[in-house]
Amino acid sequence: MKTMLFLSDRDIENNLTMKETIETVEMAFKEYAKRNVVMPPRSTIMVEKHNGSISFMPSYLTDLEAQATKIISIYPGNREKGLPTTVAWIIVNDPETGMVKAFMDATYLTAMRTGAITGVAAKYLAPKDAKVVAIFGAGIQGRTQVMAACAVRDIEKVFVYDLYPEARKKFAEEMSAKLGIQVIAAESGEEACRDADIVLTATTSPKPVLKRDWLKERVHVSAIGAFYPDWRELDTATVAESKLVIDDMEGIELEAGDILIPIEEGAITWDHVHAELKELVTRQKEGRTKEDTITVFKSVGIAIQDSSVANLVLKKLGI
Ligand SMILES: NC(=O)c1ccc[n+]([C@@H]2O[C@H](COP(=O)([O-])OP(=O)(O)OC[C@H]3O[C@@H](n4cnc5c(N)ncnc54)[C@H](O)[C@@H]3O)[C@@H](O)[C@H]2O)c1
Repeated sequence: MKTMLFLSDRDIENNLTMKETIETVEMAFKEYAKRNVVMPPRSTIMVEKHNGSISFMPSYLTDLEAQATKIISIYPGNREKGLPTTVAWIIVNDPETGMVKAFMDATYLTAMRTGAITGVAAKYLAPKDAKVVAIFGAGIQGRTQVMAACAVRDIEKVFVYDLYPEARKKFAEEMSAKLGIQVIAAESGEEACRDADIVLTATTSPKPVLKRDWLKERVHVSAIGAFYPDWRELDTATVAESKLVIDDMEGIELEAGDILIPIEEGAITWDHVHAELKELVTRQKEGRTKEDTITVFKSVGIAIQDSSVANLVLKKLGI
């Protein structure tokens, strides 16, 4: 009888750095470009009665022999109940035998891999001399979003804006101690954006949290929060005036209100999408150039982020 490994969030946290998580997610997108991936579309149960959703995300990186299935629930109302908004579990099967190798609490892993995709995109799209970050949403994703920006650029200062003053204050204290840089709680979204070279959104807001007019001329914006067709964090003008990169067309077409709403409004067409992330990491399409002003990266998340990072954790544990 084979034994199954159980890993807690703490085990994951002890075995992952942001730098290696970014490298792993980038490598997964290169494998995706080579078509070394089996990844059925994400299947989501909308639990409208309780204002939540539960998604099933299986994937298999064939050359790396990395297979995993994630079950992730997003319940924005959980905050009021003292529970996390995003909760996830991963089951890893051995591709050779189908036996279950590991069962992981993937709440922290999800935050790391979501941070990591922002890090990969920022590597190609953020101004090289970016020094100031603005983050909207002082939750768990917000924390790893900022860690990722700091892993790919020499960031000196972060401004955080959240609807809840106590949340942005706590974030500023914790993240400034963790990163060893100034993290300042901003009183408004506009104030947070004023000097920002990189603007990150990781909120549970269904409506735009930022305005085009608040942005500097040269800025990279990365939006990972909204993932329903009628929810968005970015306003139409920000998306319409940007060089736009997405994680993967399949999920974006179904879920990304940030893109679908400007299309519905007639402000952009699908031709406005400059590239998918796999085209940037394989250099089939260029990232930021000297001429670019606003770049936008939109991610709803894809399953190979999870299988590749789960595989990294198991490798580091010698499994
Ligand atoms: N793209 C992906 O791969 C991916 C993965 C995981 C989670 N998510 C999404 O990320 C978002 C954040 O998740 P989390 O687990 O950090 O949630 P969280 O509840 O811990 O944090 C979200 C924060 O956003 C704040 N917020 C809400 N509306 C706001 C507004 N208008 N302006 C400023 N702040 C606002 C809330 O007060 C809260 O503190 C969720 O929408 C979730 O669906 C995306």
